[in-house]
Amino acid sequence: MTLSSLTPRAEPLVPAPPAWSPGSWRTRPAAQQPDYPDAEALQRVEDTLALQPPLVLPDEIVGLRDALAGVAAGRGFLLQAGDCAERFTSCTEDGIRSKLRVILQVAILLTYGSGLPVVKVGRIAGQFGKPRSSPTEVTDGVELPVFRGDIVNAPEFTAEARRPDADRMLRAYHHSSAALNVLRALTLGGYADLGQAHDWNQEFVRRSTAGRRYEKAADDVGWALRFMSACGLDIPAQAALQQVQLYTSHEALLPRYEQALTRYDERRRTYFDTSAHMLWIGDRTRRPDGAHVELLSGIGNPVGVKVGPTTTPDDLRELCERLDPAREPGRLVLITRLGAGKAGELLPPLLRAVRSAGHTPVWACDPMHGNTFVSGSGYKTRRLSDITAEVAEFFGAHREVGTHPGGIHLELTGDDVTECLGGDLDEIVEGQLETRYETACDPRLNAVQSIELAFRTAEFLRIQHSG
Ligand code: PEP
Ligand code: CO
Repeated sequence: MTLSSLTPRAEPLVPAPPAWSPGSWRTRPAAQQPDYPDAEALQRVEDTLALQPPLVLPDEIVGLRDALAGVAAGRGFLLQAGDCAERFTSCTEDGIRSKLRVILQVAILLTYGSGLPVVKVGRIAGQFGKPRSSPTEVTDGVELPVFRGDIVNAPEFTAEARRPDADRMLRAYHHSSAALNVLRALTLGGYADLGQAHDWNQEFVRRSTAGRRYEKAADDVGWALRFMSACGLDIPAQAALQQVQLYTSHEALLPRYEQALTRYDERRRTYFDTSAHMLWIGDRTRRPDGAHVELLSGIGNPVGVKVGPTTTPDDLRELCERLDPAREPGRLVLITRLGAGKAGELLPPLLRAVRSAGHTPVWACDPMHGNTFVSGSGYKTRRLSDITAEVAEFFGAHREVGTHPGGIHLELTGDDVTECLGGDLDEIVEGQLETRYETACDPRLNAVQSIELAFRTAEFLRIQHSG
């Protein structure tokens, strides 16, 4: 995460809409907000957060915008990946290292397999808030508020645990800060060195078919490095081979938290949300006249929007107009999550509508959230075959319309969990889900399934780019 040095710009990077201010979202309807019982405590937390140092800096955010502009123009691919919901308790060195490891593995396979630069963005260091389909939950006749993520309340089914606690926003800030500190140390301190690609493969992965294929790819990368060294290139002097730039992102679910971390950058005459490099708006909070869209319309960060199957081409055009009136390549990441069997039909009209309105977003495929179902044994799960099918439909739709399939958005973990079904050769079957079902929210791909999907995605990408 090196800081880029940039020349000052005369114009604001992102001209905020005329009536916009960091607090203008407060006059708009805000979906998915906790009902805080203590208004004074809430105000105190917002005031305290507003005095904390930024978690990320404008130079880094602008670096990501520039990288995404390249992706939007077809010169790269975005990998956005991490937990569905991070837990405060998994903010440990091991927890972070394990997530980083699998992100690096997927990234190297995508880069090596496609020949395109891969922009890496984690759902990490702040992904603590969850939108929910219902505000309450009933168990044995008792009704309590739902768990909305560690930034809001706790998952245990008691009135005490489920009461929204504003202090948790402060804890989320401090956990994000600690996670970022470890991430910066790992990504800059040699752990991400391409020559270490074998070490990212954990023992349980190495035993799998996908893991053995990964070993072969890591061997090939090692040979390529030796070849370049033999040709006279000073490999240890190439920072790009030793370090990676991993950007952070989370869903901007709580506008109060995001506003408190939004700061004005004098040099660029632009507001930036310094809680993460990239923020996204969920499928349940994307009303064009709503609070979430209002807040993100005025900040200079790259902004993602989840696009679910109920989105019409007109809805999407309106959203793009609100969030990207200047039509800047890389400002928007449109993350489609339409479901296998539907994406092939629903996506082309959306691609055409956005293109004809003059926007050049990064189009990314989230093959997770449109493919969730509850298994016979009662576990929320997803099939790797559906996930792969949606990715295939995504590539097919872009090929049909002539737009760039710009990225993939995954919920994954480096751990050996059993949350998603399938795998061509190392299959997880329904009876195994209970073995290691550890997610705090949605089912994640384990490291083996993630690697298998990375190989498939790299193949699609290579086919697309070879004509
Ligand atoms: C998520 O990304 O975890 C999520 C809830 O997605 P969506 O808003 O697309 O349902
Ligand atoms: Co999720």
